[in-house]
Amino acid sequence: MRHSIASFFSRSTGLALCAVLSLSLSSCASLFGGDKTKQEPVKTVSNTKYRTPTPRGPVPRNPDLNLPSNFNTTELTHTKGRPDQNYIAITFDDGPHATLTPRLLDMLRARNIKATFYLVGQNAQLYPNIVRRTVAEGHEVGNHSWSHKLLTKLSDDQLREDMTKTQNAIAAAAGVRPRTMRPPYGALTQHQRSLVYQEFGYPTILWSVDPLDWKRPGTGAVQARILAGTGNGAIILAHDIHAGTVDAMPATIDALLRRGYKFVTVSQLLAMKGAGNPAAPAPGQ
Ligand code: NI
Repeated sequence: MRHSIASFFSRSTGLALCAVLSLSLSSCASLFGGDKTKQEPVKTVSNTKYRTPTPRGPVPRNPDLNLPSNFNTTELTHTKGRPDQNYIAITFDDGPHATLTPRLLDMLRARNIKATFYLVGQNAQLYPNIVRRTVAEGHEVGNHSWSHKLLTKLSDDQLREDMTKTQNAIAAAAGVRPRTMRPPYGALTQHQRSLVYQEFGYPTILWSVDPLDWKRPGTGAVQARILAGTGNGAIILAHDIHAGTVDAMPATIDALLRRGYKFVTVSQLLAMKGAGNPAAPAPGQ
């Protein structure tokens, strides 16, 4: 009994002391014997529910650009557009994604931005409604292979089959045919680039800005890398299957708009390439 009373007083004193010292009750309980079990160290779990807050008020808006998208290029490979004009293309690979792509589309629509989506055929077949919406909202869709295999390993016939199957899935979903392709991992032999150009009319589109967003470096790194790498004529590579990439987009795109860049689709960027191209608007326009 004495022991209990002593224990009671010591605990009460301890709790009061804790209150004074503003310590949490749980740490006090363990300090003064209230909790005999040893506390496990608190593990910090990643907050996967976090979303970049939607900006309040007006967001910067890409100008209305009624530019031609019929390109006339004989170059097999493109990594960027004209260096003398402030037009850029942002591209999103590997989708559609069930939830992230619609979220990205909302954000692009709010800013009047037309992007280019390099779709994986089997994902297009899985989410035809999202492909339809992407096209209906003025974005371009390109061929990114059926299942994201390394295409350099394929025979010519396998490559034809892969491109055809993907093109058909996109056409079935949205009624349009891709005009360009991007090989997974950027890997396609010169012979294959020639094949897809001659048989499908696809120039091979690579990129000039790669934020390595697929490594999930965090929204800040994705944003900083894109802003550091973007100049006139940039083709920016990103992936709409990673939440961090989509979360990075509002701030990234708003910063690019404030720097005066105008967003166009890849086909529009190609159409204005080449000094002799009559479709190319004069610099500065
Ligand atoms: Ni890819």
